[in-house]
Amino acid sequence: MTVEVLDDYEAVTARVEGEVARAIAAGPLTLGLPTGRTPIGLYDRLVRAGLDWSRVRTFNLDEFASLGPRDPGSFRAFMDRHLFGRVNLPSGAIGFLRGDAADAEVECARYDAALDKAGGLDLLLLGLGGNGHVGFNEPGPTLTAASHVVTLHDDTRRANADGFGGDWRQVPARALTLGMRQILSARRVVLMATGPAKAEAVAAMVEGPLTTACPASWLQVVGRCLVVVDRAAASRLGPRR
Ligand code: GLP
Repeated sequence: MTVEVLDDYEAVTARVEGEVARAIAAGPLTLGLPTGRTPIGLYDRLVRAGLDWSRVRTFNLDEFASLGPRDPGSFRAFMDRHLFGRVNLPSGAIGFLRGDAADAEVECARYDAALDKAGGLDLLLLGLGGNGHVGFNEPGPTLTAASHVVTLHDDTRRANADGFGGDWRQVPARALTLGMRQILSARRVVLMATGPAKAEAVAAMVEGPLTTACPASWLQVVGRCLVVVDRAAASRLGPRR
């Protein structure tokens, strides 16, 4: 795991923009994508950069259970607004979990198979939950390798209230998420975390033991994992940073 501490949010998104632009320019790319507040500035930069997305395939990390792709609170709608609707990514190249699938477990198995068929992720962009979650792999006694249905922690629902008029009780209590297998077998991972609310999770992820109490700590086993943080998010890291 390589950690880069930069001045602020703008510097973090600029750094990651460079990584994504290089990967897209290098050839066909299977790209894993996050939602959340953190990647919004990155997606704006990628749109402004005018990149050619015609050889990119994307797989998003997660989706709220029960929400269809046109529901304004869905992660699919978020991605349409912030990225997909603004670049030349072919609609057939967008992989997404369907929150409104009749059988969520079957949908998760379909998604894993589709990503396997695509050859797995070349590059996975990640944000970080304040509680150390990645995608929607929440802290708990165990983690799950396969994509699966999760019950969200109340803190996670609060952190996602933006998409639901600020009322966390409107945030679905369950979600579908890529499991730890696809995340940890990505050929390259670039994780962004900014702001003081992420400082504790960043320290646990980078310097703590591998533990299901911090799902992101398992990224320490990924061969090529770059963590890009601002000073606030790095504030609980040891003195060598
Ligand atoms: C959400 C998403 C994660 C995201 C994280 C951080 O719940 N499921 O993929 O990385 O929380 O979100 P934010 O960037 O808004 O802090």
